[in-house]
Amino acid sequence: MSLKFEKIKTPLSEQFRLASRRMYPNGTVRVTPSECVLPTRYQEFANKIKNLEVREDDVWIVTYPKCGTTWTQEMVWLLMNNLDFDGAKSLLFERSPFVEWIGICYPEEEGDLPYEDTIELTEQLPSPRCIKSHLPKELLPDQLWTKKPKIIYVTRGCKDVIASYFSHHRVCNGYTGTLEEFAEAFLEEDIVFWDPFWKHILDFWKLRNEPNILINTFEEMKKDLPGVIRKTAAFLGKDITDEQVSQLAKHLDFSNMKNNTSVNYGEYVKILQERFSVDNPFMRKGEIGSGKKELSPEMIARIDKWSQEHIKGSEYPFVG
Ligand code: PPS
Repeated sequence: MSLKFEKIKTPLSEQFRLASRRMYPNGTVRVTPSECVLPTRYQEFANKIKNLEVREDDVWIVTYPKCGTTWTQEMVWLLMNNLDFDGAKSLLFERSPFVEWIGICYPEEEGDLPYEDTIELTEQLPSPRCIKSHLPKELLPDQLWTKKPKIIYVTRGCKDVIASYFSHHRVCNGYTGTLEEFAEAFLEEDIVFWDPFWKHILDFWKLRNEPNILINTFEEMKKDLPGVIRKTAAFLGKDITDEQVSQLAKHLDFSNMKNNTSVNYGEYVKILQERFSVDNPFMRKGEIGSGKKELSPEMIARIDKWSQEHIKGSEYPFVG
């Protein structure tokens, strides 16, 4: 099925565009199938990604943004590379490419930020590759569904995603709106990149019994990281000792990840913080429940109602 792109121009999306100083000013498109909201630029790369050569020994980490992607990438890369902590000193972005990034950012806008052809980076990476994507099911490479490499899908409670994604927009997109305005835009489902949230999650939730798909949650990782390490290692077919589990859990602890310059995007975030005069870090709080603390009771009630309507009949166990 060929992809279709429809320019999004609603009053609220226009308001959001004007409140943003990076990426959004160039406009957004809704891609069919998937209904996914992506930058206008994505159109140039969509088919290249759909036709990307998948390898059977790839491991794909797929998430809606802010669900624990970076945390999972670091865990999975280390499990795939026999806990090579020395090798993990190189940038995660290079070890585990974000395949569609080239279609998200605009090189002419980037200024001091490094710019890479992430599709080429993915193609050139030696096997076994550990690849990151936020794309919904329909926009991922077609060969994922024929070659069936391992896919690890990570989810997180909706309100925490909103709080984290708002902070991300402040620093990465120079977004000047409030958290409540951001939440409003999120609920519209046709404004924020990689929306709609629930469709993204539920499409993978339906695939939860496929042997090549593992679904992890941010909350499980937070409550029982050693357990998630063991479960993920078993899924990847890797033996791991108790001592290695402890070593890896320590490496992946929030305070360590926050200060680890290979994974915290520190250098790039600093440039953006200066550009937009904000102090939001990439590794913000790393908590469960920050959305509940930061959003108003009225907005929480709206989000919960909206979430319940979306998950109805899906057996999805957790709104968050
Ligand atoms: S992105 O930009 O979509 O790839 O972001 P993503 O990596 O998915 O999510 C970022 C949030 O994950 C938190 N994080 C962690 N929490 C706990 N422990 C560890 N080790 C960890 N690593 C990353 C990060 O702080 C972001 O969440 P918030 O709530 O904003 O702190």
